[in-house]
Amino acid sequence: QNPDKTKLLEAYELTGKLYQYILKNTEQGKQAMQYLRSRGLNDKLIETFGIGYAPAPWDTLSQLLERRQFPLPLMEKGGLLSVRQDGQGYFDKFRDRIIFPIHDWKGRLIAFGGRAMGDAQPKYLNSPESMLFHKSRSLYNIHLARPQIRKKQQIVLFEGYMDVIKAWDTGVINGVATMGTALTEEHAEVIRKQADQVIVAYDGDSAGQNAAYKSIPILEKAGCLVKIAVLPNSQDPDEYITTNGSERFVRDVIEAAVPSIKYKLIHFRKNFKLQEDGDKLRYIQQALKVIADIPSPVEREHYVRELSTEFRLTFEAALQDLNEIRLQSE
Ligand code: UTP
Ligand code: MN
Ligand code: MN
Ligand code: MN
Ligand code: MN
Repeated sequence: QNPDKTKLLEAYELTGKLYQYILKNTEQGKQAMQYLRSRGLNDKLIETFGIGYAPAPWDTLSQLLERRQFPLPLMEKGGLLSVRQDGQGYFDKFRDRIIFPIHDWKGRLIAFGGRAMGDAQPKYLNSPESMLFHKSRSLYNIHLARPQIRKKQQIVLFEGYMDVIKAWDTGVINGVATMGTALTEEHAEVIRKQADQVIVAYDGDSAGQNAAYKSIPILEKAGCLVKIAVLPNSQDPDEYITTNGSERFVRDVIEAAVPSIKYKLIHFRKNFKLQEDGDKLRYIQQALKVIADIPSPVEREHYVRELSTEFRLTFEAALQDLNEIRLQSE
C-alpha cells in the first residue's frame, strides 16, 4: 500500500484519540462537553461515535504531529493542518470545534466533520477530499451500521451527523448520512451492494425534501427499493426525536415511510392549487404521468383507483387517460 496513505491513516487515528482525550479529560473540553449534553448526547453515545473536541489554540495538533515526526506537508494535503499565510509552517485546521470522526466501511478513520459551537462559519467544517476521503462515495457511520444494514437488508439515509447519532439512540442502528453533499450514483452503488431497501429520511425543510425527491431516481437506477420518511414541521430527525421521543420516531417516521411513488404524488402536489379546476386537471395529468411509469400493472391499478376516488373520476376514464399517456411515451 501507498506509504503516504498509511502515514495519513496513522495521523488521523492519533488525532482522533487526541481530540477525544481533550473532550473528556481537560479543562478546555468542558464547554464542548456541555454543548454535547445540551444536544442530548450522553457518555455512551460520545464513546460509540468517538466524538471529540479540537481546542481553540492554533498549534495543539501541529505541535504533536511535528514531535511525532509526521511529514507536515502530507498532513496539510490530508486536511489536518493548514499552511500559514506567510508560507512559513502550519497551523491546526480544526479549532474550537466538536469533532465527528468519519470512517470507511472497515472502520478506518479517514476524515473529520467539525461543528462550531457558536456562530462561526461554516457551521460544519469537513476534511477536504484526500487520498483517504472521497465525498462522493463516503457515508457517515457505514462501519457501525453495516451489520444491521446487511441483516435487515435496509439502510436509512440521513442528511447529517446528529441525525444518525440520535436515531442510533432510538434503536435505528442502520442509519448513515451523506453529510450534506448531494447523493451521487457512487453512493447509490455502495448502498445497493449492502441492502435492497433504502429509507430516505432527510430534513423536513424544503431543501431536505427537494433533495429527497432528487435522490429517488438515483437510488432506483442502482436497483434499490426506495421509501421516503417525511418529517413534519420542517424538523430534521434530530429535532423530531428531541421533541417527540424515540417511540414516535420509529413508529410515525421510520415505519411510516411511504413508497417513492406515493411520495412523488405528495411532493409535487404542493405546486398546485387543487381547489381550482385548471390546476386540479393539471395535477391529475401529472399524477397519471407518475403512475404511468410504474412497471407493475397491479400497482398502477392501485394508484389509479386511489386517484380516481380522491377526485371523483370514474376508474375507467382515469385508466383510459393513463393508457394514452403510456402509449405516447413508448
Ligand atoms: P444541516 O444544516 O441540516 O445541519 O446539514 P444538521 O445536521 O441539522 O446540524 P445541527 O443539528 O445544526 O448540528 C446537514 C449536514 O450537512 C453537512 C453536515 O454533514 C451536516 O450534518 N453540512 C452542513 C456541512 O458539511 N457544512 C455545513 O456548513 C452545514
Ligand atoms: Mn475511500
Ligand atoms: Mn438540512
Ligand atoms: Mn438538519
Ligand atoms: Mn439538526
